[in-house]
Amino acid sequence: MIESEVEIQKEYMNKVKELNTEKLKYYILTMGCQLNENDSEKLCGMLEKMNYEQTEDVGNANFIIINTCCVRENAEEKLFGKLGEYKKIKEKNNAIIAICGCMMQEKHITEKLKKSYPYVDIIFGTHTLHKLPEDVYKVLSNRKKVQDILDIDGEIYEGLPIKRSDKKRASVTIMYGCNNFCTYCIVPYVRGRERSRLPKDILNEIRELANEGYKEITLLGQNVNSYNGGIINGEKYNFANLLRDVNNIDGIEIIRFVSPHPKDFKDDVIEAIRDCKKISRIIHLPLQSGSSNILKKMNRKYTKEQFIELADKIRKEIPDAVFSTDIIVGFPEETEEDFEDTLDVVRKVNFEQIFMFIYSRRVGTPADKMEQVPEEIKHKRFDRLKALFEEQIAENNKKYIGTIHKVLIEGKSKNNEEMLTARTSTNKVIILEGSETLIGKIVDVKIVSEHQWYLKGEITK
Ligand code: 5AD
Ligand code: SF4
Repeated sequence: MIESEVEIQKEYMNKVKELNTEKLKYYILTMGCQLNENDSEKLCGMLEKMNYEQTEDVGNANFIIINTCCVRENAEEKLFGKLGEYKKIKEKNNAIIAICGCMMQEKHITEKLKKSYPYVDIIFGTHTLHKLPEDVYKVLSNRKKVQDILDIDGEIYEGLPIKRSDKKRASVTIMYGCNNFCTYCIVPYVRGRERSRLPKDILNEIRELANEGYKEITLLGQNVNSYNGGIINGEKYNFANLLRDVNNIDGIEIIRFVSPHPKDFKDDVIEAIRDCKKISRIIHLPLQSGSSNILKKMNRKYTKEQFIELADKIRKEIPDAVFSTDIIVGFPEETEEDFEDTLDVVRKVNFEQIFMFIYSRRVGTPADKMEQVPEEIKHKRFDRLKALFEEQIAENNKKYIGTIHKVLIEGKSKNNEEMLTARTSTNKVIILEGSETLIGKIVDVKIVSEHQWYLKGEITK
């Protein structure tokens, strides 16, 4: 049934291609996380099959698509701001405007769109991404607006076209949805319950990527360590099995994964990382808060002590492991003492990278109804956390000087066209001199100096 649905959409791609007799231009704006970026690669893949080609200049576009995120409030402001700008382009180019992604699963947003932004042609949600060709066909053939949103969990659709944004590094979604219902988070409401792809589909995709010359794979899911690949040869196939199998694929040199949940980080996954040398040595362990009291209110299902014990256990088993984390500052009812606990964990675990967020109220989540922390206090705490982390980076960077790293040359540096850029296995950005022909190659680099947000390196081999 699922395969036949993809076949139906392929027919719509052909029908749209027939309608679009000349090549038209599409512009895509992607908000949010790597899962959304991976979804956008599929949207681009479908659009290219329908005779659209990508433009970076929205002013030239005949088709504008916005893939939205709703994890924090600022994305909403961005969407409504952009729509004002795109209205003028629509009038000038007779363009189609489509909006999709997480925010479209929120009723108050789609209602606002219908009421105040009637010029939007297509609205579709996270469970109907694969139906873009059908939606485009309907709009082109009768210029009627389309709204295609499912509230129930979508199926997994294999075999959709994909246009990857990089030639050497690829993301592969291994599971969709989340069952955890952290009290601040909107994701379980907009992405539905956990659904895992079959191991054979994931491994075939990665083998194909390796054949095409891809070197680095990032496995994606909201909670990758609860990946459930079903029963294979009479045994449960879980995330640790998947990591070991991906590690065995020739040609793939670097494996990363986001995001695990500390409560599900079991010994078999730690052992798989220890044994599989291709797996990145930076492990993402989202702390969210260092206070056991707040963690309970967040429904995270671990305490401050359990988190620290987990980090210690991983370090003991994998001595070169370092950690990145996500921290939310100013969760409802967070006291000064709770916040001090967060700073305490940051001091003790010594994270290599911290993604810091100011708590943002989300309609429909339990935390939205709790007593809120005043904005000013949230911002002050955020600045204090940032200052502590910056002190730690300066200290941590020193240990890299003189060390040698096998790295993938990713491209030219964004800030200096003359230089190349790479990353250590622990995700530190390295800037180095070298010829453009090295892009996409794996080389040995020695770190010669540190500069807060990047390291400077020299090629040794
Ligand atoms: N406010 C602030 N940050 C949030 N995150 C998720 N929901 C919220 C929210 N309501 C953060 C968490 C998560 C990351 C992807 O986004 O830290 O790990
Ligand atoms: Fe949101 Fe928690 Fe699920 Fe992560 S684990 S997506 S923070 S509910």
